[in-house]
Amino acid sequence: MDLHDEAKAAQDAARGEIQSCSSLEDVDAVRIKYLGRKGEITFLLRKLGKVPPEQRKEVGGLLNEIKVEIGSLIESRKQDLKQQKYASGASAEALDVTLPGRTFKRGRFNPTLKMMDDLVQIFVGMGFSSVEGPEIETEYNNFDALNFPPWHPSRDDHDSFYVGDGYVLRTHTSPAQIRVMKSQPPPVRVVVPGRCHRRDTPDASHLMSFYQIEGLYVDFDVSMADLKGTLAAIAHEIFGEQTRIRFRPHYFPFTEPSTELDISCLVCEGKGCRLCKHSGWLEVLGCGMVHPNVFEHVGYDPRKVTGFAFGMGVERIATLKLGIGDIRLLYENDIRLLSQF
Ligand code: PHE
Repeated sequence: MDLHDEAKAAQDAARGEIQSCSSLEDVDAVRIKYLGRKGEITFLLRKLGKVPPEQRKEVGGLLNEIKVEIGSLIESRKQDLKQQKYASGASAEALDVTLPGRTFKRGRFNPTLKMMDDLVQIFVGMGFSSVEGPEIETEYNNFDALNFPPWHPSRDDHDSFYVGDGYVLRTHTSPAQIRVMKSQPPPVRVVVPGRCHRRDTPDASHLMSFYQIEGLYVDFDVSMADLKGTLAAIAHEIFGEQTRIRFRPHYFPFTEPSTELDISCLVCEGKGCRLCKHSGWLEVLGCGMVHPNVFEHVGYDPRKVTGFAFGMGVERIATLKLGIGDIRLLYENDIRLLSQF
């Protein structure tokens, strides 16, 4: 094989090898193999001196062409491989900007607290101010000043948590009435949201700790009609305009007359169902006209002032409104229940 044929063979081989390179390292190896100091083309160029002079120009030209061609094939293969590498790297590292982000779950108010807030807002809108009283109360404020006779069964230590020294965990928010009236002259228009405690065995409608909202309105000419109008407005606001109300005679030591407020059943609207025990009515709160003895205890003149008071169980109202069958569910912290409200 003469130099011309060797050059052609090397050219063919180099073309094929360059084409099948799959990495920059492969390309470099091919470059060294053909164009390096000991490379095949370099080697052939050195042999040029031994070619007869009349052929030298032609074979020399050919070898130079091949050298340039291999150089440029190598260069363009390198560029291709770099391009490929960049493209695949980019797709491997790519961010999918259309993926939905991670959402953080937000906390919620417990339905009881939400209901309490809503109720207080409604009362504030009617001109009541909201105040608080202590959970550890004197027996005097919790019972005596509210005209509980000494024999009243709720004084029994089966019903109340006594903490000693004449103190008790308040069994209702009514003792706050005493505190408010003792601290200011009439007129008084307040609501008192707060926690109360009773020695009840928890069941579907009782808890040992629960919230009440107390209301008190005292002025020089407050009547039962004011009580009725106020509570009717509240009932409509919470349970809807279609709700009917009725007052049922009751007994509380600190109000006279005393009544309980019922609303028409939210499920059967009065026809009778399981929720209302087939009576058509649901009991929602206790209320009445402030007893003259209570006014005496706080130093108000019962011949001059009159007033009404009411007290409602917040959990009771929340469960009725939200259709929760068991009051204990409110405090089990089951997110499946709580996240529905
Ligand atoms: N304190 C009473 C209770 O806990 C409710 C009530 C408050 C009744 C005010 C009349 C007036 O049951």
